[in-house]
Amino acid sequence: KRLGILISGRGSNMAALIDAAAAPDCPWQVVLVASNNPDAAGLARAAAAGVPTVAFSHKGTAREAFDVRLTQALRAHGAEWVALAGYMRLLSPAFVADWAGRLVNIHPSLLPRHKGLDTHARALAAGDREAGASVHHVTELLDDGPVIAQARVPILPGDTPETLAARVLTVENRLYPKALAKAMTDAE
Ligand code: GRF
Repeated sequence: KRLGILISGRGSNMAALIDAAAAPDCPWQVVLVASNNPDAAGLARAAAAGVPTVAFSHKGTAREAFDVRLTQALRAHGAEWVALAGYMRLLSPAFVADWAGRLVNIHPSLLPRHKGLDTHARALAAGDREAGASVHHVTELLDDGPVIAQARVPILPGDTPETLAARVLTVENRLYPKALAKAMTDAE
């Protein structure tokens, strides 16, 4: 499947999806990395891996119009699936409808707990004993939609949002390729 990836920043999950595509039995090839942030570090990482990139700032553009540009860029590169990888912007209902069933996201919590931002601080404040990551199908609601797969990590004494985020990120980077392969297989 031809995969487009949307990012806003560092791009470690994007890199995990690009790296996984090198395996001969991987069901996707990454055809485009698109960012709403022209300064996203992930753009250079994608380009270094030989993946086409586009970046347009969302500033001054209505959400719907911006998302139409995204879909046009994705279609121009033949994308069939879209993976959100640290894409820090809500998508319009029209975008979600256009890609329904072929649009996935990774979120750094054990959904349905801790949707939205600051998940690690909230997991600590809640006294949770474990944290983790979830890959899920995207619906119009933030961090909602059916979960495809999750990975768990312990919360340890002395954890800060930063130490917990780092522990979760290592499992995110392993989980995303596995979960995306499952989603694509299940969709067949
Ligand atoms: C990840 O923790 C992801 O789950 C969250 O934002 C972070 C992005 O990291 N939504 P990266 O850009 O993939 O390295």
